[in-house]
Amino acid sequence: MEFIARMVDQDMPANQGEDLTASSDGSDMTGLAIRKLSLFSYRNYTHLRMEAEGLKQDSNIVVITGHNGAGKTNILEAISMLTPGRGLRSCKTRDLDQVNAFGPWAVSCSLDSQYGPVELGTGRDPEGERRIVRINGATAKGQSALSEYISAVWLTPQMDRLFLDSSGARRRFLDRLIYGFDAAHAGRLSAYEKAMRERAKLLKQGVKDDIWLKALESQMVERGIAVAAARRDMTERLDIACARSDGPFPGAKVTVSGSVEDDLARLPAVEVEDKFAAALRAGRQQDADNGGAGHGPHRSDLDVMHLEKNMPAHLCSTGEQKALLIAIVLAHAKLQAAERGVPPLLLLDEVAAHLDQKKRSALFETIESLGSQTWLTGTEPNVFDELKGKAQFFHVENGKVKKQAA
Ligand SMILES: Nc1ncnc2c1ncn2[C@@H]1O[C@H](COP(=O)(O)OP(=O)(O)OP(=O)(O)O)[C@@H](O)[C@H]1O
Ligand SMILES: [Mg+2]
Repeated sequence: MEFIARMVDQDMPANQGEDLTASSDGSDMTGLAIRKLSLFSYRNYTHLRMEAEGLKQDSNIVVITGHNGAGKTNILEAISMLTPGRGLRSCKTRDLDQVNAFGPWAVSCSLDSQYGPVELGTGRDPEGERRIVRINGATAKGQSALSEYISAVWLTPQMDRLFLDSSGARRRFLDRLIYGFDAAHAGRLSAYEKAMRERAKLLKQGVKDDIWLKALESQMVERGIAVAAARRDMTERLDIACARSDGPFPGAKVTVSGSVEDDLARLPAVEVEDKFAAALRAGRQQDADNGGAGHGPHRSDLDVMHLEKNMPAHLCSTGEQKALLIAIVLAHAKLQAAERGVPPLLLLDEVAAHLDQKKRSALFETIESLGSQTWLTGTEPNVFDELKGKAQFFHVENGKVKKQAA
């Protein structure tokens, strides 16, 4: 805790404590950009400060190259930890500590946000698994407070299997897309999951206290319906944004399916509430036997179709699935820029290397014009030749980062 306080305080901007509802220098600051990034005891980094290399004001693209195992993904993951959730590897907090390190991990950044410069910091509480969040030096109540300032969407090599994996990974992907539109979504989701875990624990212990169970179920209903409604809203707008192919990237049909989402499409909200509450009540015995809960938005799924081929995403080729994912992420970023004025940070791990020339050029063109920063990684520098003069290049080796000539 003290460690994070120190690392956030030392870089505090001059406007600390001032009204952050307007850009501090009066400029039209629309995009998100990390100006300084610090990692402490984070995986293979004992101490990294990327500001020493000077992240420039005018460049929106950061390219990190390096050999396998150099630490490229770790940097992107560290940035992802500055948003709510478990980051781009979905890891336990303790696993991020550097092996044999002297203390818990911490990450901080100076961010140009829509409200002007802001200092964000996060790290593991030395006492346990909890993650501490600090915003402009003050401890925030929870991780969801970060969504007020920062949003990030990522693509990693593991996500090449997103359409083949379990529905949990697709739900996490969809929820992350919502964070940039609805800062309260992360908080509602974690409140829903907390109530569900507490109910499951009581049921497992054989507790039959109806008032206690009902209170937890009504929290699940209230939060769960809000979560499902946000997912429906997001997919409806994404579906329109993805309907046409974007250059070499395919058009996609995007929907969400789940008992609560489906009911919201055809019933008034009060009826959906009653139905969900009744299903939870009726399912208590079954949930006591099986754990979790048999009903609710924690079981929903994101369904994607390749429009031109009229093919469900999981039946598309590996390259087609990747192109679909990129199409959704780019459409989402443009949508967020148009509706919220601020697109998310994009963290694209090993994405460029696996694209053909046409798709790679189209991707670079889009991220150049997006307005928020994009972080790209790759083992081969020549993949990024087109970005020479347009991006900042860093090379990683043995946990050290060196700035390269642009
Ligand atoms: N908790 C940890 N403590 C110390 N080192 C770690 C920890 N977790 C992972 N590492 C190491 O960090 C190194 C860099 O990992 P990272 O995934 O960032 O590499 P990369 O540059 O993305 O490689 P690739 O090109 O293979 O994807 C690896 O050697 C890994 O073993
Ligand atoms: Mg990697």
